[in-house]
Amino acid sequence: MKRIAVIPGDGTGPEVVAEGLKVLKAVASKRGFEYDTESFDFGGDRYLQTGETIPESAIEDFRENFDAIYLGAIGHPEVKPGILEQGILLKLRFALDQYINLRPVKLYPGVPTPLKDGTPENIDFVVVRENTEGLYAGTGGFLRKNTPDEVAVQESVNTRMGVERCLRFAFEYTRKRNKKKTLCLCGKTNVLTFEFDLWERVFRQVGETDYPDIKREYAHVDATCMWMVKNPGWFDVIVTNNMFGDIITDLGAEIQGGMGVAAGGNLNPEGVSMFEPIGGSAPKYTGQGVINPVAAINAAGMMLDFLGEEEGAQILENAVIQVISTKLKSMSAGKMGYSTQEVGDLVVEAIES
Ligand code: IPM
Ligand code: MN
Repeated sequence: MKRIAVIPGDGTGPEVVAEGLKVLKAVASKRGFEYDTESFDFGGDRYLQTGETIPESAIEDFRENFDAIYLGAIGHPEVKPGILEQGILLKLRFALDQYINLRPVKLYPGVPTPLKDGTPENIDFVVVRENTEGLYAGTGGFLRKNTPDEVAVQESVNTRMGVERCLRFAFEYTRKRNKKKTLCLCGKTNVLTFEFDLWERVFRQVGETDYPDIKREYAHVDATCMWMVKNPGWFDVIVTNNMFGDIITDLGAEIQGGMGVAAGGNLNPEGVSMFEPIGGSAPKYTGQGVINPVAAINAAGMMLDFLGEEEGAQILENAVIQVISTKLKSMSAGKMGYSTQEVGDLVVEAIES
């Protein structure tokens, strides 16, 4: 029995999570996959009422008693930017040591892409983003704050351990994916001469020693952006640091059809992982039933895959592809031709048929 902690979160988070859970239930009953869920109300409303983002005890509970976390979206218009992101999302990533952020960039048939020559054949790669270090480590500080001479320092922290475990995960993933068997390190060796010296050295050492079957490539982050637009078919798996990964996966989400479809997993392969649609809480659409739940449904698919239910994940993905290519008019909020709930129902129908 797998135990899933559900954090619907803010804004439209609960609406899309409800559809993801509906689809999860359909897959589970088809596959005989046993799980239960417990819902947690962490998010903006709770913060405004109690002043609490997420208590230590909840993190302990997740660590001890759950196999995965399913997250909707965090972000509330009345809460100062940064508080919920740091206090909930980043807090969970760090406290549960979810050191990988896995973000597939896959264009499904029938989904419009802004790339003129984009097709499902040439937009199909995965970004492995380091998820606990780099510029997100939160080290740095002010000097002479609020004076004309003030200094702000934000440091990028890269440990050999953190870099190596991320690279090893990426190599393993590339091998398991078994497509082009090419892993591209995305960095900035020409400017970040300490950080990417380390990344590049470990990349080469680990690759030469343990992954001779995987072809190694390197691209600067700026060039990576260019190639993602110009020739995305060149990529198989990209591995990169936390900040670059954050940026290039928004570009990736856009070329795969936008926030309506993009999902990601915050992984601790030895612990508790967390799955989420990449898009935000979209507060202005709350309660209207116009948000595309496909991203949240895809996140549930990644969760199934990661919980060892690979066949269920495949069933879910096939159903999503079928619904997208035969029913939905658009991937964008309010333009799908169906409500949030109806899209969930269509995916459930496709699973059951
Ligand atoms: C993401 C988001 C977060 C990040 C924010 C909300 C802190 O943009 O998951 O990509 O920067 O990692
Ligand atoms: Mn981001």
